[in-house]
Amino acid sequence: MRSLSSRFMRRVSRAGRDVTRMFTTPQPAVELAPAGRFQPYDHTLPNRYPWLFEFAAANLANADAPKLLSFGCSRGDEVFALRECFPAADIKGIDIAPRNIAICRARALESHVAGVSFAVASNTSAEPTEYYDAIFCLAVLCHGDLSTYGARRCDHLIRFEEFARVVGDFGRCLKPGGLLLLLTTNFRFCDTEASRNFDAVLEAEPEQLAPDVLFDRDNRVLPGEKCPAIAFRKRYVNRHQRDSMDI
Ligand SMILES: C[S@@+](CC[C@H](N)C(=O)[O-])C[C@H]1O[C@@H](n2cnc3c(N)ncnc32)[C@H](O)[C@@H]1O
Repeated sequence: MRSLSSRFMRRVSRAGRDVTRMFTTPQPAVELAPAGRFQPYDHTLPNRYPWLFEFAAANLANADAPKLLSFGCSRGDEVFALRECFPAADIKGIDIAPRNIAICRARALESHVAGVSFAVASNTSAEPTEYYDAIFCLAVLCHGDLSTYGARRCDHLIRFEEFARVVGDFGRCLKPGGLLLLLTTNFRFCDTEASRNFDAVLEAEPEQLAPDVLFDRDNRVLPGEKCPAIAFRKRYVNRHQRDSMDI
């Protein structure tokens, strides 16, 4: 009887130690999205949007050595495709994932591609004002799971407010007359304040649009809504207008 009770007491005390250990030992962290991340998937392809790159090249023909930004460049295919279309351009690729940028840099070194640079960043706050002739933001300001799982809201993954902030800063970085190429987003550019300083200059054909769903300013799904406008030119404004605008 005594031995049974002491065995029982030993078990109780061991269980107590296990519980204490459970609460004091660091548990494996649940993977948190890096702050500001939109699309978590890296999918990309060489020369993925030839029709869009051709449009941009035709519309930037007057810029001798255009400055181009590929925002969310993944493993670099977009930057290397732009290199082909714009032989004299100075091209920068930004991605939030350090691993992607390491791959981009290794590829550029290996293939001796000149005039390209890369940075890890989640937005354009470190980029100069009125510097870029074009910003390509393709399949970045979205989250694939929203469309796959038929989400009614998006704010558990991405938010309109953050989208508006990111595209607002694109507006700052673009030269007057510069092009913003925004394809496959979960929000409409026309819902943002920044869009007031732009004119839409290209609409995609239905088959050129990905099936991603759209959400409104309150992060609620817009069933069946499509947004074909995908290229926008920043307006030229005079000093008086500029002082009364937030660009
Ligand atoms: C689907 S890939 C698109 C790659 C390329 N633009 C294309 O269309 O082929 C999305 C990329 O966006 C990057 N990304 C997501 N949120 C970002 C953010 N806030 N800033 C920079 N890159 C981001 C991801 O790391 C990923 O490499």
